[in-house]
Amino acid sequence: MQITSFKQYEEDYKKSIENPEQFWGEVAQNFQWRKPWFKVLSWNFNEPQIKWFEGAKLNITENCLDRHLEKNGDKPAIIWEPNNPEEESVTLTYKMLHERVCRFANVLKRNGAKKGDRICIYMPMVPELAIAVLACARIGAVHSVIFGGFSAKSIADRINDSQCKLVITADGAYRGNKQIPLKDVIDDALIGCPTVEKCIVLTHVRTPVSMLKGRDVWWEDEVKHVNDVCEAEEMDAEDMLFILYTSGSTGKPKGVVHTCGGYMVYAGYTFSNVFNYQPDEVYFCTADIGWITGHSYIVYGPLSQGATSVLFEGIPTYPSPSRFWDIVEKHKINTLYTAPTAIRSLMSFGEDPLQGKDLSSIRVLGSVGEPINEEAWHWFDEKIGHSKAPIVDTWWQTETGGIMISPIATVTPTKPGYATLPLPGIQPILVDENGNEIAGNSVSGNLCIKFPWPGMLRTTYGDHERCKQTYFSTYENLYFTGDGCLRDEDGYYRITGRVDDVLNVSGHRIGTAEVENAINMHAGVVESAVVGYPHDVKGQGIYAFVIYPEMHGEAELSKKDILQTVTRVIGAIAKPDKILFVTGLPKTRSGKIMRRILRKISDGDTANLGDTSTLLDPGVVEEIIEAAKSL
Ligand code: PRX
Repeated sequence: MQITSFKQYEEDYKKSIENPEQFWGEVAQNFQWRKPWFKVLSWNFNEPQIKWFEGAKLNITENCLDRHLEKNGDKPAIIWEPNNPEEESVTLTYKMLHERVCRFANVLKRNGAKKGDRICIYMPMVPELAIAVLACARIGAVHSVIFGGFSAKSIADRINDSQCKLVITADGAYRGNKQIPLKDVIDDALIGCPTVEKCIVLTHVRTPVSMLKGRDVWWEDEVKHVNDVCEAEEMDAEDMLFILYTSGSTGKPKGVVHTCGGYMVYAGYTFSNVFNYQPDEVYFCTADIGWITGHSYIVYGPLSQGATSVLFEGIPTYPSPSRFWDIVEKHKINTLYTAPTAIRSLMSFGEDPLQGKDLSSIRVLGSVGEPINEEAWHWFDEKIGHSKAPIVDTWWQTETGGIMISPIATVTPTKPGYATLPLPGIQPILVDENGNEIAGNSVSGNLCIKFPWPGMLRTTYGDHERCKQTYFSTYENLYFTGDGCLRDEDGYYRITGRVDDVLNVSGHRIGTAEVENAINMHAGVVESAVVGYPHDVKGQGIYAFVIYPEMHGEAELSKKDILQTVTRVIGAIAKPDKILFVTGLPKTRSGKIMRRILRKISDGDTANLGDTSTLLDPGVVEEIIEAAKSL
């Protein structure tokens, strides 16, 4: 199923459009099914109702583990690189990973988990995180991984939304020179989570933790009580595999639901093709498993293809900004898949961190999560890839399950700043505000997809109507991505960023409404408005305009108080970079905040604010502009 020439790409693409069922039916033959499907696809985007490989039975872990044992049992499946480079890295072969997944799956069963139960995972980037994810899949439980940067309140909201029965966590996590008390955060969260019966705790940093009798058990103790034989649960292709919460334009994150069959086929197919993975290569994706990139391209995609996937606990700048390059040299990395934010941050340290590092193993580079600016693209190309490694700029989303628009390494061309061409099976379309197609080249519009693909979301957990409203109601018969996009004279796609109220901060998706809600929870804050502004490293920074009439102490202290509140409500990742205290916000007569004006002010572009005459109080704009000069 690997595409090896541009001509084949064109042929496959054509076939995938003309006969999608035949195309995906053939791709799916490369996976292991307990029972075949009777229909490849049935769909309608109105309800929406999407079914792939209907009637088929499988277990994704048999595809990620069991089927590799005979030939590749001793091949490394996961290489774990710890936060501290002085510590030994850990290699788990397919055989070892299989054994540990089965054993932990039995631990889950022993603690009352069964098919269909939701299980929350809140863990550091250690091999046990991948093991926990796969163990859930093994027994047919639905995992909901929550990124380690979210607060207790965020965790509780997510646990309650999907009514998780079990939580898997660790005592703590290392991130650079910081230690994060994960179990403490979970303890705070669980105060408000009546559905959680058990919490399994891995010892990792060996910090003291409270263990509640009857609820909390140690991972290390539990695995001693079970064996490592665990038959995989037979799953329907359309059974739920996992829930992953993501931000939208409302204040409440939604649980994106992916199912077993289609997701597996799509993650595996795109991994194999986009990175042009070769059998003995070492592949390193620097994302966290708490995000979709980690689900699809650290765990399921690579393992389904029998690849060697590196899992890194730390951060790019610890103990020095050479860390990524040390890892590349140490593990002879062939593919490095990372985010523009990381590239820009490392770029800012100049070339010293690269001195003496052997990067010759690198064959393919990848970028994900946000638009990559040309400067960063060229630096990545020249300094890291030595102009020999194609960069795959992969555009996709939590909802798409896998990569949608991207070069195919060594096969299709690259172009700085461009995600380039759609993968086979993907039918992008640009539309104007009214949903009319914008045909031809050298055009821009809102990016939609007009035909289903196997990895797409099926629903948002517990609220199908919301799925319909968010993705399928803006434009009839189209999946709306929320992204703006241009198609250049060659027909190449360039994603220009979100067109809704969603920010992309360091590649993390954050809703402005969520941040506003959090700020508004701070005592004394009357109202706030949050916008994104261009940030050299993060891509976008968070700029908050806050009305706080009776400030408690000095302004600087009050800002810190607000940051603390945001950290409590959402997590440190949503802390505003700038807070400006104002006495009013620019609103229309109907009371709508005119964010367009605030965005311009946050960007320092105040010369042409456009028409402000429709504002309730035009004077407030002058006042904000004056105040903004002080930041
Ligand atoms: O705006 C797009 C941006 O990230 C959004 C999806 O975020 P999330 O669901 O968190 O998934 C991130 C990892 C796939 C998109 O709507 N985005 C993602 N990849 C790119 C991108 N923007 C530009 N270029 C990309 N390659």
